[in-house]
Amino acid sequence: MNPEATLEEARDQIDSCADHAALKEVERHYLGRKGVVAAALAGIGALPPEQRKQAGQGANRVKQAIQELVDARAEVLDAAALESERSGAGFDPSLPPARLETGSLHPITQVTRELEDLFLSMGYAVLDGPEVELDHYNFEALNIPKDHPARDSHDTFFCDDDGGLVMRTHTSPVQVRAMEQLEPPFRVIAPGRCFRQETTDASHDHTFYQMEGMVVGRDISVGHLIGAMRTLLRGIFERDLDVRLRPGYFPFVEPGFELDARCPFCEDGCSVCKRTTWIELLPCGLVHPNVLSAGGIDPEKWSGFAFGLGLSRLAMLRYGIDDVRHLFGGDLRFLEQF
Ligand code: DAH
Repeated sequence: MNPEATLEEARDQIDSCADHAALKEVERHYLGRKGVVAAALAGIGALPPEQRKQAGQGANRVKQAIQELVDARAEVLDAAALESERSGAGFDPSLPPARLETGSLHPITQVTRELEDLFLSMGYAVLDGPEVELDHYNFEALNIPKDHPARDSHDTFFCDDDGGLVMRTHTSPVQVRAMEQLEPPFRVIAPGRCFRQETTDASHDHTFYQMEGMVVGRDISVGHLIGAMRTLLRGIFERDLDVRLRPGYFPFVEPGFELDARCPFCEDGCSVCKRTTWIELLPCGLVHPNVLSAGGIDPEKWSGFAFGLGLSRLAMLRYGIDDVRHLFGGDLRFLEQF
C-alpha cells in the first residue's frame, strides 16, 4: 500500500459521501476487518525485515487519518440534516395531523367522581385514608376487638408479624380518623381501595373499591339514613327507587342493616336482580356508641349513621360488567368501551 495515494483516494471518496449510509460503506472499505488497511497490516510479515517498521507506521498513520476524515464528514452530514430540517424542507403542511389518543377515565374513577360531586352537593366532605392501616383503626376502634369472630370474615393481609399493621379490609377505618379530626356535626365520604385475601372469581377480587359514608349530628335517626340513601340512588340511577332495610350485623353499627333498592333495570325480575326485583345496594346502620367513643365523640350528645358502598360492584351494575376481574385486567379492549 502506498500511504499517500491511499489517503488521497480515501479523502476523495469520503468528501463525496452524501449520506451516512455511503459514508459507512467507505469506512468499511478502508477500515473494516477485511479492509484496505487491515490487508496492508496483514501483509507486513511478508516484507523484508528492514521495511516492516516503516510499512507498519505508514499503515497506522493512514488508518488514523482516514478515521479522522470519516468523523469529520459525519459531523458535516449531521449539521446539514439539522439545517435542512430547520429550514422546513420536506415538511408538508397539507398532511393531516397525527391522531391524538386521549384515552378515557376508568369506570371506577367515573363512578367515584360522580358520587363525590353528588355528596359534595349535599354538604359532605371527601376524605382520604391510608391503604396500609393500623389494626386499631381497621378493627379495634370499630368495635372489633382482637378475638372478635367478625375478624375472620375480613381475610386480612397482614403487613407485620404481630398483626399491628394491615392492608385495610374496608374504608370504615376512615370513620375513626374523621371523628378524631373533625368537630361534630359533620358529614364525610371516603372512597378508596381495600384489600382482602380472597380467592378470585367473577365477583371477588383481592383489591376492590368502597366508599364509606358517615354523618354525625344531633338525634340522627334511621329516617335520615334512608333519606340520604334515596338521594344517592336518585343520583346514580336518575330516578326515584324504593328502598327496604333488612337486619344486618356489623359490629360498628347498631342497629345495622342491609339496604336493598328496587331493581332499576326491570319491573318484574331480571338477571341483574336474580328475579327478585330487589338489588342489594349497601350495608349501613347507626354508628355504635363504642365507635363514637373510640373516635373521641360523646355518644350521649351525638349520634350518627354510616354506610359502606361497594364501588366496584356499583360500577359493574351501572355499566353491565359481568366479571369484576375485567376492572383491573388492564385490557384496552375492555377499557376503551368507557
Ligand atoms: N365496612 C363494611 C365491610 O366492608 C361495610 C359497612 C357496613 C360499612 C356497615 C358501614 C356500615 O359503614 O355501616 O364489610
